[in-house]
Amino acid sequence: MKGIVLAGGTGSRLTPATIAVSKQLLPIAEKPMIYYPLSVLMLSGIREILVIAKPVDVPQFRRLLGDGSQLGISIEYAEQAQPGGLAEAFVIGADHIGDDPAALVLGDNIFHGPRFQDLLEECARDVDGCVLFGYKVKDPERYGIGEVDAEGRLVSLEEKPRSPRSNRAVTGLYFYDNDVIDIAKNVRPSARGELEITDVNREYMRRGKARMVDLRRGFAWLDTGTPESLLQASLYVRTLEERQGVRIACLEEVALRKGFITPDQCHRLGVALGASGYGQYVQDIAAEFAA
Ligand code: G1P
Repeated sequence: MKGIVLAGGTGSRLTPATIAVSKQLLPIAEKPMIYYPLSVLMLSGIREILVIAKPVDVPQFRRLLGDGSQLGISIEYAEQAQPGGLAEAFVIGADHIGDDPAALVLGDNIFHGPRFQDLLEECARDVDGCVLFGYKVKDPERYGIGEVDAEGRLVSLEEKPRSPRSNRAVTGLYFYDNDVIDIAKNVRPSARGELEITDVNREYMRRGKARMVDLRRGFAWLDTGTPESLLQASLYVRTLEERQGVRIACLEEVALRKGFITPDQCHRLGVALGASGYGQYVQDIAAEFAA
């Protein structure tokens, strides 16, 4: 399975912080935001990843993440010149995906919860159709909203409905079979001129091939759209990290635990990170693993 992180958008609700810097590079706790969605793909077992960003931002993402080889993965970059919608990721990323299934994660979505890796690995296996991840929210009119039948099959899906039929938001993580490329290419732009991911998902629903898995009690799906939610996300991550003594979305640790890199490689990455608490953590994890 191939992975895509979509890190476009203007971050207009976060100005002035986003005037000179991409929203997905702003820190959540001490890590650039994109670490969180990237870790989700890596936890799913995906090692070939495409980062899509605005042309002006691509060099910064490249400076941060390189070609991914230091993490035992491959990271490539592509430009989204205009905000053309989430489904455009599959048009831009068609060559990257090739004949494989694909996972898309939005660069500003943060997920954290119990046994997440198990769930991701299970859902990424033999995808037939699409798998969406639902999360109960208080403000359903802000999201894509879905309803499922007793088997978890999607039976209704609406984008930002005025009168929501459920409170299950479709989060920004999507697993698809290879049909997604053709489906996305055939989607017509919406009233706001974008290729909507909801239209792609609706087509899978029409074919009876859309599932939605619930992220249940104990899960956090964090919003980063406003200054308040950005700060809350940082506080949430930091509180857990401080208390539990672990780091969330530490890419070096994920790579090590997945067997993408050796403890020795991990140690060197930690040293290169210098004197930060994060760098020390990476070194400690490497030592723990080598022992
Ligand atoms: C997009 C999708 C929406 C989904 C949301 C998750 O909305 O269109 O279906 O629920 O991401 O973050 P946007 O954030 O582009 O308004």
